[in-house]
Amino acid sequence: MNNKTKFDRKGENNITMTGQIIASGTYIPEQVISNDDLAKFVDTSDSWIVERTGISNRHCTSEKENVTSMAIKAARKALDKSGIAADEIDLIIVATSSTEQIYPAAACQVQDALAAGNAVCFDLNAACSGFVFAYNTALSYLMTGMARYALIIGAEQMTRLLDFTDRSTCILFGDGAGAVLIKAKEGKMVLPKMHSNGSKGEALTCQVNGKIGMNGQEVFCFAVRQVPRVIEELLLDADLKKEEIDYYLVHQANVRIIEAIAKKLGVSLEKFPMNLKEYGNTSSASIPILLDECFQNGMIKRGMRLVIAGFGAGLSWGATLIEY
Ligand code: ACO
Repeated sequence: MNNKTKFDRKGENNITMTGQIIASGTYIPEQVISNDDLAKFVDTSDSWIVERTGISNRHCTSEKENVTSMAIKAARKALDKSGIAADEIDLIIVATSSTEQIYPAAACQVQDALAAGNAVCFDLNAACSGFVFAYNTALSYLMTGMARYALIIGAEQMTRLLDFTDRSTCILFGDGAGAVLIKAKEGKMVLPKMHSNGSKGEALTCQVNGKIGMNGQEVFCFAVRQVPRVIEELLLDADLKKEEIDYYLVHQANVRIIEAIAKKLGVSLEKFPMNLKEYGNTSSASIPILLDECFQNGMIKRGMRLVIAGFGAGLSWGATLIEY
């Protein structure tokens, strides 16, 4: 990161800092794979997939696309809308678990493409919790005064990691990228919540150059048990009631998981926007893609209070409060 101090260090004189989303962007590959397309090469059907997952389509990269190219496109859209200059960005994090290359980091390539030369850049792999973990990491930079503007991107080429002969996993995932640009602002500091449980790692695995292996029912039960808990933990600390939250944006893995989370929390399903019908599970890209969609269609307006929550391999899970 740029060593010179370009802004006053906050966190002093009892001023607490938080983050605010100033712009967002998305990139979704054009190519669509429908449930019927999948049924041509694995023993499945549109009705089975829709009933068990809520997914109808997923998007898939072309040969020319990858995690980095999608991350750059989503990031550029967010930057263009933000009104800030690329060299004002202090931090770029790409949350991903599906890059083809181990290094240089996708985040460094985004920095180069945007000419954001003052940003410190790294990738973060927390599987489907990646965006929430990256957002929280960026938030800690903002809260401590280490950064003023941060670009957080979730980008995934999940179709690269799929065994297209395994009907229990290949139906679930899709490709895409979403980015948000956040800035430091004075406000109540609500600490985000994050958890990991390495002892359950076998439930969801992927080796380098390998394919995703998953115990679907174990992942299902884990998500339904832990996500409501971590949201309640967050709200307790924030001194907020569930009804004071305008929308809950949770990782888009499966409509039945989201329905069960809403039911356990005792919150109307209407407060849980969803787009997995069209994109499937895009892992760490699912929440920023959903956020961008809800900003664009006017569902989420300035002044609203949001909770984002992710869960995935590791196992890992977490939640954060966003004052939009
Ligand atoms: N089409 C038709 N039949 C199928 C398919 C398919 N695509 N996949 C599995 N089946 C069959 C199974 O072989 C099994 O057949 P059998 O009874 O003859 O053995 C039957 O359907 C039931 O299989 P289950 O695994 O019990 O099905 P379940 O109702 O649990 O649904 C699913 C499977 C959709 C994967 C579910 O467990 C699930 O959603 N789990 C959550 C996992 C998830 O969302 N992972 C995403 C990645 S993790 C993340 O993002 C955090």
